[in-house]
Amino acid sequence: MIDQFYTPPELARFLVGCLPDSFTPSVIADFAAGEGSLLRAASRRWPEAQALANDLSPATVRLLKAEHPNWIVSNSDFLLDRSVRSSALESWAGRVDLVLLNPPFSQRRRTPHQVVYKGETIGVSLAMAFVLKSLAFAHDGSYVLAVLPDGCLVSKRDEKIWLKLKSDFHVEILRDNANSTFDGVRARTSLVSISGIRVPRMPLSLKDGFAVSGPSCVVKRGQQQMHSLLPSRAAAAVPLVHTTHLVAGQVIKSGPRIVPKSHVCGPALLLPRVGRITTEKVCVLEPGDVVAISDCVLAIEKISAEEVRELRRAILENWTVLTDSYRGTGAPHITLERASLALSRIMSADSAGGSEWKSSNSEGEFHEPASGPASVIAFGERSQSRSPVRLSMVESNRARSSAARNRSR
Ligand SMILES: C[S@@+](CC[C@H](N)C(=O)[O-])C[C@H]1O[C@@H](n2cnc3c(N)ncnc32)[C@H](O)[C@@H]1O
Repeated sequence: MIDQFYTPPELARFLVGCLPDSFTPSVIADFAAGEGSLLRAASRRWPEAQALANDLSPATVRLLKAEHPNWIVSNSDFLLDRSVRSSALESWAGRVDLVLLNPPFSQRRRTPHQVVYKGETIGVSLAMAFVLKSLAFAHDGSYVLAVLPDGCLVSKRDEKIWLKLKSDFHVEILRDNANSTFDGVRARTSLVSISGIRVPRMPLSLKDGFAVSGPSCVVKRGQQQMHSLLPSRAAAAVPLVHTTHLVAGQVIKSGPRIVPKSHVCGPALLLPRVGRITTEKVCVLEPGDVVAISDCVLAIEKISAEEVRELRRAILENWTVLTDSYRGTGAPHITLERASLALSRIMSADSAGGSEWKSSNSEGEFHEPASGPASVIAFGERSQSRSPVRLSMVESNRARSSAARNRSR
């Protein structure tokens, strides 16, 4: 395991104490949490806040879960998109008020970590890669406080990204720590604050081999059973959306608030999984809205607001492709696999607009629909699970030439 140098409690207290009195976070995260000293200090100051802890080490994660049953603890490699996506962290993107970090510093490889920042791929240090990835979890008004090696502040490698961060946000060095702050050997460190964050969701992803090229979406089914609802007033509670809350193309957020295992974050498209589907039940969840969905509802998320509306339009224009996929003698219902197949067909039919979709399983393995739906059917047959299905929209020459052919007819 790399860099298990934990933050001493007094340093953690100091860091948390640097935040203004007016700031009251509801969700606090440490994505390389170790023994959890940063989160413990924050939880003491804001006992009502929901703590999210992540660490690469399974042993550390076991310890955190045992010591802090109220924390949400995940075990992912924070630098691997695929690992983060398949962890509990996935649904917290854009929802964390305060990120606390004392990331690993040891640069074991010579090559920089490649990070996409606002569309540009930049090589950065390991510590900086953690800072940048954590911005994807922040929203307007969030703070990111980090213990960083001085090398990260002054190195040639991170010079370019610091210039960008300083022009986009408010970056402040809170304190230059003495050499002796950490037991054992460690670089000299500084405490850094990034605030003035003004983007709802940073379009960041590490080039880790699993990054999706172009916009992608995930089709997932709700998990909350209506007969076992536990309404909650906790800060982390969100409105539950059942099929009755899908009205006239809009998601009505008047349902009971619950703390779900998994959230749906707008922009997204919601539709009934169980029950009669009508055009008005294909509903847009607006950007920034966060809800839980019942097990009778499907969500298509991880696409832009514009793509959500485009997808709704394409579904309505190819209506029977979707409705024919609902089966059952009692209540009609659609499986995740049949829904993804129908959506793939709808997207292929819609490719005259210049876009084509391919599908992957939740592991991020892509199956090019090179010859139409056949390869998508293979995917549907193979996957019997309830795990989300990912669809990716990619511009392709084939789609563009097919569009050109259609236009010239
Ligand atoms: C320097 S320690 C800091 C722990 C804690 N934040 C603190 O301040 O006490 C770094 C932690 O990062 C974890 N870690 C290392 N690489 C990681 C990765 N790729 N993803 C998530 N955690 C990682 C290590 O297991 C270790 O617990």
